[in-house]
Amino acid sequence: MTPAPIQWPAVKALAAAAALLCGAAAPAQGLPPLKVGLMLPATGTYAALGTAIENGFRLHVAEQGGKLGGREITFFKVDDESDPAKATDNVNKLIKRDGVDVVVGSVHSGVALAMARAVKASRTLLIVPNAGADAVTGPMCAPNIFRSSFSNWQPGYAMGQVMAAKGHKKAIAITWKYAAGEEMVRGFREAFEKAGGQVVKELTLPFPNVEFQALLTEIAAARPDAVFSFFAGGGAVKFVKDYAAAGLKKGIPLYGTGFLTDGTLEAQGADAEGVLTTLHYADALDTPRDQAFRLAYAKAYKLQPDVYAVQGYDAAQMLGAGLAAVKGDLNHRDDLIKAIESARIDSPRGAFTLSASHNPVQDIYLRQVVGRENKAVGVASKALADPGRGCRM
Ligand code: PHB
Repeated sequence: MTPAPIQWPAVKALAAAAALLCGAAAPAQGLPPLKVGLMLPATGTYAALGTAIENGFRLHVAEQGGKLGGREITFFKVDDESDPAKATDNVNKLIKRDGVDVVVGSVHSGVALAMARAVKASRTLLIVPNAGADAVTGPMCAPNIFRSSFSNWQPGYAMGQVMAAKGHKKAIAITWKYAAGEEMVRGFREAFEKAGGQVVKELTLPFPNVEFQALLTEIAAARPDAVFSFFAGGGAVKFVKDYAAAGLKKGIPLYGTGFLTDGTLEAQGADAEGVLTTLHYADALDTPRDQAFRLAYAKAYKLQPDVYAVQGYDAAQMLGAGLAAVKGDLNHRDDLIKAIESARIDSPRGAFTLSASHNPVQDIYLRQVVGRENKAVGVASKALADPGRGCRM
């Protein structure tokens, strides 16, 4: 995957134009800029995902005249490298060294778990713009922790229903061995086995390894009806290409959560054609809201948006909804939290609300790769809410 060029001048120009249009109304007058800490991967297999999230977040801020809830924004950034071992130190750079008001991050579930632990202690507001770790809106849920993306359970569960409905009986699951893959497979297994299917084998390799050959040989020998998979970013590009190159694609259909083919299609080319996935976003949704977003994103960054861009954009929308309710003043913390909890976020994916544990309640689309698009072919699961198991707010 080619890393996305960052075109901040274009976003700045948009911000200036929006500021002119919005006039000088400044409900947050007298308050210093709000410090937003972005903790995202800038290197490694998830680097492009981090860029898309940041692009999306900045696009919404720019559309609001460079402000959220009337308050100017200053950004602080840390490259977390998708490394859970460094995550506590990294998030504390933002919380303790930079004194940020809000942390936005991250992509990797293991990193997000460490971040959730840190903000529980510091009580800093956290908005997770990707990482699906179930515990973040489960046992670790807290008033100051929100997610603009999904729980790992959600797209996995939806795919379990889809594959069972297609008549598949025996499936093999293959993924990286860490929270995201394990939890997506768990969600998949829950729905697939409830509907009479059976997960005959779970194959894993350590994150972010991409030596798939031995595992593909195992799949070929076991001859399941179908394969369910989670990979993302650079790893997903290689997996889809290797699956096709191993000659498996025709005989054993490949399915996955939508990360398998999101933001990756240019690099995967024909090897991804026809693959069915489940996700809370799709290309060509054909709604005015999504079209406007995609146009603005493409104009600002000379790139097509993907699910990660949408999640970043919506993280900014959620923060904006909270700040607007308190005129930018974070001292009214309870009111800010209540406003986010009750917000209806007008997302490019379709409007969503938040569950009691602060995770989006959202439609999960069934998508099929057609050319360079993840085309929505239906809704796999309508208004799917994560069960929020273990959350006591
Ligand atoms: C995760 O680690 O939670 C994760 C990472 C990349 C994705 C989705 C989930 O695309």
